[in-house]
Amino acid sequence: MQPKVFVTRPIPDEALQLLSEVCRVELNRENRILDREELFRGVREAQALLCMLDDRIDDALLEQAPDLKIVANLAVGTDNIDIDACSARGIAVTNTPGVLTEATADLTFALILAVVRRIIPADRYVREGRFNGWGALLFTGGELWGKTLGIIGMGRIGQAVARRGRGFGMKILYHNRRPVEEAIARELEAEYAGLEDVIRRADILTLHLPYSPEVHHLIDRKELQMMKPTAYLINTARGAHVNEKALVEHLREGKIAGAALDVYEHEPALSPELAALDNVVLTPHIGSAALATRIKMAKTAAENIVAALQGRRPSNLLNEEVWKGG
Ligand code: GLV
Ligand code: GLV
Repeated sequence: MQPKVFVTRPIPDEALQLLSEVCRVELNRENRILDREELFRGVREAQALLCMLDDRIDDALLEQAPDLKIVANLAVGTDNIDIDACSARGIAVTNTPGVLTEATADLTFALILAVVRRIIPADRYVREGRFNGWGALLFTGGELWGKTLGIIGMGRIGQAVARRGRGFGMKILYHNRRPVEEAIARELEAEYAGLEDVIRRADILTLHLPYSPEVHHLIDRKELQMMKPTAYLINTARGAHVNEKALVEHLREGKIAGAALDVYEHEPALSPELAALDNVVLTPHIGSAALATRIKMAKTAAENIVAALQGRRPSNLLNEEVWKGG
């Protein structure tokens, strides 16, 4: 009998086709997060799991899935997966890096422009029929040219954001575990600085690092206080990088100019009052949501599964130790 793959949410057909050539696909056809019991049921007898960032993959789940060989996350981030628990059971874990870099950088810039130029309230104003003529002070906002783009996390996505920032005439200041290669730093005219320095000097502060408990509340009350009162915070990475309650207070009291968020600390829930603020732009975790990108991500996840089930090393394997001469 063909191996079973369990897919936790609808994905593009292109990927389902790849999977159905070698597996029996069991798919949750409803576009909603499965509860624990449903996930438990889904992984029983499954050799492969194609999951997403709202699915918590921990030891209790793996316990239900004695046949599981691979967990393929439809995302670049894998903070929803206990990789050590997978490794301990010899289960491969893969993600979808690279293919979503440009789409995520595009959304980051869309959010920057939207919050700085007050696009959302301006749009609402026009729709409400309140536009009654050009005004010298109507919806005046900030500008990007000559301003400092502070980037925390200078991996593929951070660099793609920096490249866009250069196009807008911005100065690039960044923090990363280590400086990027000299050639890249030169191309982007990017200045490396300490974390605090980037937070203090940025006009636009944007986060592009993976989440792990060590960076929980990287932007906490103290960091928000360090930001310029005219600065904006952008987060398209993970919600728990930011103390959202403290952020709401700072935004409400005008201690920073604004924020644009694609991710939330208690996703999909929002902090109380966040949605009532006018100086924020809120999107529902759509960083990589360009259709062509989502197709590439889903095909990447499917290819990783097919490889693992055929005994080949999946291209995006994250826990190399499970693949000893496989
Ligand atoms: C989305 O947040 C991802 O990690 O791909
Ligand atoms: C993700 O792909 C990153 O390296 O930023």
